[in-house]
Amino acid sequence: MRNLKLTALGALACILLAGCAEKDDIERKVDELLSKMTLREKIGQMHQVSGGADLAEAAAKGEIGSILNCVDPDQINAVQRAAVEQSRLGIPVIVGRDVIHGFRTIFPIPLGLAATFDPELVEQGARVAAVEATASGVRWTFSPMLDIARDPRWGRVAEGSGEDPYLDTQMGVAMVRGYQGDDLADASSMAACIKHFVGYGAVEGGRDYNSTMISERSLRNTYFPAFKACVDAGALTLMTSFNEIDGIPSTGNDFLLRDVLRKEWGFDGMVVTDWNSSGEMIAHGFAKDLKQATEQSVNAGVDMDMMSFGFINFIEELVAEGKIKETTIDDAVRNILRLKFRLGLFDNPYVDASKTRAAAYTPESLEAARRSAAESAILLKNDGGVLPLDDVRTILVTGPMADAPYDQLGTWAFDGEPEHTVTPLAALRERYDVIYEPGLAYSRDRNTADLAKVRAAAARAEAVVVFVGEEAILSGEAHSLSVLNLQGAQSELIAEAAKSGKPVVVVVMAGRPLTIERDLANCDAMLYSFHPGTMGGEALADIIEGKISPSGKTPITFLRDAGQAPFYYNHNNSGRPCNGTETLLEDIPMQAGQTSLGCTSYYLDTGYGPLFPFGYGLSYTTFEYSGIALDSTTLSKDGVLGVEFDLTNTGGRDGVEVVQLYTRDLVGSVVRPVRELKRFERVALAAGETKHLRFEIPVADLAFWTRDMKYEVEPGEFQLWVAGDSASGEPHAFTVE
Ligand code: BGC
Repeated sequence: MRNLKLTALGALACILLAGCAEKDDIERKVDELLSKMTLREKIGQMHQVSGGADLAEAAAKGEIGSILNCVDPDQINAVQRAAVEQSRLGIPVIVGRDVIHGFRTIFPIPLGLAATFDPELVEQGARVAAVEATASGVRWTFSPMLDIARDPRWGRVAEGSGEDPYLDTQMGVAMVRGYQGDDLADASSMAACIKHFVGYGAVEGGRDYNSTMISERSLRNTYFPAFKACVDAGALTLMTSFNEIDGIPSTGNDFLLRDVLRKEWGFDGMVVTDWNSSGEMIAHGFAKDLKQATEQSVNAGVDMDMMSFGFINFIEELVAEGKIKETTIDDAVRNILRLKFRLGLFDNPYVDASKTRAAAYTPESLEAARRSAAESAILLKNDGGVLPLDDVRTILVTGPMADAPYDQLGTWAFDGEPEHTVTPLAALRERYDVIYEPGLAYSRDRNTADLAKVRAAAARAEAVVVFVGEEAILSGEAHSLSVLNLQGAQSELIAEAAKSGKPVVVVVMAGRPLTIERDLANCDAMLYSFHPGTMGGEALADIIEGKISPSGKTPITFLRDAGQAPFYYNHNNSGRPCNGTETLLEDIPMQAGQTSLGCTSYYLDTGYGPLFPFGYGLSYTTFEYSGIALDSTTLSKDGVLGVEFDLTNTGGRDGVEVVQLYTRDLVGSVVRPVRELKRFERVALAAGETKHLRFEIPVADLAFWTRDMKYEVEPGEFQLWVAGDSASGEPHAFTVE
């Protein structure tokens, strides 16, 4: 036994030593190459340009470090040949692309991936994306987006994992692992880029690119954790964000880029700006011109400029004027060269174009996409067990999203090909006798002329399935909305279907949580599918038919009305929390006294609660939590919180429950959130089955940034919940001494 342990230790030491040797070797190569470079060549490395073969000439002159937005392997090879074979030092370019939720095989949008609560599956999806994209020559993706988003008006809510720092962290790390693979130098490894650093999701009013005001404590407690975890997981690059925080744009923020990222977290990867975010500091009113913006960006700690053209045009002058030190440039270039060595680009700069197409849409990739879409669908309502539709033959399929191969791919699906999309209409036709009457041509369509046809067709069907939602263009970057109701005449379409008296199932395919309260009232069942990607149709049909029981949970709070935003489950309490006795508009007597309604924190029209809380989602079966017991209710700071419980499938079908564990720190040196997600797990249970489950959480995981700005656990009283969503369960008390 002892020998075995020694051998294992020896093996570990060898791996660590080999890792160190490899690191040293890369650092040696970086320094050696750097010592041969002219200032002009160094600046060239710091310059990233959008384009393809047209950039070969610049690459041959050593004036480009990276290109983005080219996915043609022949063009990529042409630029690479110019860089490697014609430039003086033969430094390869790195090719970047927004591969956000798949490359050719499109997976659900990241918000949908988060709804799976299945990091393993998300990692698998990122691997698929990496294999497909690298086969085209793309070795760097601008993903994962880690922006915490608590305001669904913001269109980019689609691109992240929602409102919770822990879920965001799990999803982000899974994506980094999937993209980067086990061996960075392998041709199928793609550098991840964690973005947007930082606070971009907190833009005021949910309007894209807007200002943010986030305290340092809130940055540390809420917005940093996923970035820090991804840095620890080895993310190779990071992108600065467009927004300013308290007046300082991220691209010129040395506190973020030097003090936190480099010094505190020890990041040795590369920092790239967002698209012209250096130049945009002029519009912000932070820099007077591009030259000053360049000075601010480089001195703040940016290594590579995406598309402002400031670095290539002004760094030489700024160095000559002593405004930027050449050692600062050397550090930036080291970060860039290190990345290229790590990815093995010097040894294998070219992509084998003969293999590009074969890498796309493999049966395994399509299956992973289908599973992801299935696991991400959230069942919000199922009155009378209308779903699954397993005892009907003839269904009416209606709605503008039933057969929208482009739109169901969602935002940032640049390289997805709609001709490979399986729409719900196509998949349902394989399984039912389908009457198809779209009713509306697209999600914004206000023309109600065809709604009568829908009602007439419903009379001939046993059930109606209405596919509504948002076209892809309505979410994503620069696509914020101030009203979140279904667009066009989609609500009228649902109401029309309801008039038929037939069971009505609504499937929403959208880029954000829409305000669907009135639509819920007009249907028997509702499935919510954040744009589900290439295989969305198959996945949704599997669920509608009952082959799969839905298991997705809301990764973001669903609002009654956009006016409630920002709204999130893990909020701090006001001094007058609503106690459930709110008086709503219609109940207020005329000329009621000023204080007669009580004085608590809620809206007179929408009340206090959301439509659906974070972590919510039904199944075709039901689950019961019982026997929740803590190992000990008094713990030390270095202890482990152990909790056991039984989970029973109390319904008649097999299903999967996403078990969630939340805690609350009752009194802190600063006000603490009313609940915080600390763990989750997908648990599959056969009908009637009970499983005994256990979570173990180091007490250290209850740490936060205290009043003294220290990251620590404060002793005191805590509560714990084990439940199926963030608003259920009974609190269990424990104390940390
Ligand atoms: C977006 C980034 C993206 C970049 C490159 C920007 O507009 O904000 O998320 O990675 O463009 O396409």
